[in-house]
Amino acid sequence: MTKSITMLGIETSCDETSVAVMRDGKLHSNIVSSQFVHGQYGGVVPELASRAHQKLMIPIVEEACAKANVVFAELSAVAGVRGPGLMGSLLVGLNFGKSFAYGLGIPFIGVNHMEAHIYSNFIDEPYPAFPLVCLTVSGGHTQLVLMRKDFSFELIGETRDDAAGEAFDKVAKLLGLGYPGGPKIDAHAKQGNPAAIDFPRSYLEGDAFGFSFSGIKTSVLYYMRDNHPNGISQQQLDDICASFQASVVDVLVNKTLLASKELGVKNIALAGGVSANSRLRSEMSRAALEAGLQLCIPKSEYCTDNAAMIAALGYRKYLRNSYSPLSETAVASLELAAHL
Ligand SMILES: Nc1ncnc2c1ncn2[C@@H]1O[C@H](COP(=O)(O)OP(=O)(O)OP(=O)(O)O)[C@@H](O)[C@H]1O
Ligand SMILES: [Mg+2]
Repeated sequence: MTKSITMLGIETSCDETSVAVMRDGKLHSNIVSSQFVHGQYGGVVPELASRAHQKLMIPIVEEACAKANVVFAELSAVAGVRGPGLMGSLLVGLNFGKSFAYGLGIPFIGVNHMEAHIYSNFIDEPYPAFPLVCLTVSGGHTQLVLMRKDFSFELIGETRDDAAGEAFDKVAKLLGLGYPGGPKIDAHAKQGNPAAIDFPRSYLEGDAFGFSFSGIKTSVLYYMRDNHPNGISQQQLDDICASFQASVVDVLVNKTLLASKELGVKNIALAGGVSANSRLRSEMSRAALEAGLQLCIPKSEYCTDNAAMIAALGYRKYLRNSYSPLSETAVASLELAAHL
């Protein structure tokens, strides 16, 4: 009988401390501890994030292993995020992961956070087939990525300014909804009319696969200033959220469909925190069905930051003996790798 491969995944790129255990490609635990300390500041405070990771790291490793019914000696390798992200946060998880692997005498595998977001589509079967176009929409990135095969990432389009998640968070802040804003706008939008206000859709002539979301944020600001200088009713708030969300989702869906058409790719996927958005999920599903495309969307809990996606990519790298040297460093602006 072949020996099981038990992978420990560690995610500490921003403000979620997360640890997962995967055995032979099957997820056994995925503990995510969100740091609520940042809420009062309206965004992530880097120094507080790294301090919280430091405090939570060992208890969450113990919890993830206990939940998976795995003892440390059974681990085959440790996969940890090495970038992109906040340097102080990355250093806590990466240095813990390398030391832990070294102490156990097992390999360490450094993982790119944005590549791992895409591999959240490879946690639960059925996995998507290649070639694949993935729209990754998160707090710091908006990317269209062509994957011709496993571990091959071609960036075909990205945002010129704000990421989609950043636009959700900034609009939520100006509407007084707090941080993180994406889920709050999503909830209000469910009660609102998406056609109530015609916010602009930015298609960027001459840059078919590029994105820009800073204009829509300004449009919402001006709309509020010009139409509701003295506050808004619940229904008006719901309508603004629904209309803003519809304008962002329209662009995301249309550009993804265009990319798949122009590249002749029949498989599309979603990844990143904004892919937890209910309208993006339903509109992308509708559009994919109409166009005869195969769409893969991860479960909502695998869209926002989590260690299951780190373990999923780490597991596949382990199968290829793609280990990292212990000298591997954290890189705050790490880019997608063209090939493994
Ligand atoms: N239901 C939702 N609708 C819209 N946006 C959402 C929803 N849920 C989460 N988000 C957004 O997703 C973002 C967080 O996603 P994620 O955790 O992937 O980002 P990040 O890790 O901070 O950034 P990056 O992955 O680019 O480094 C936030 O901007 C949040 O508002
Ligand atoms: Mg992320």
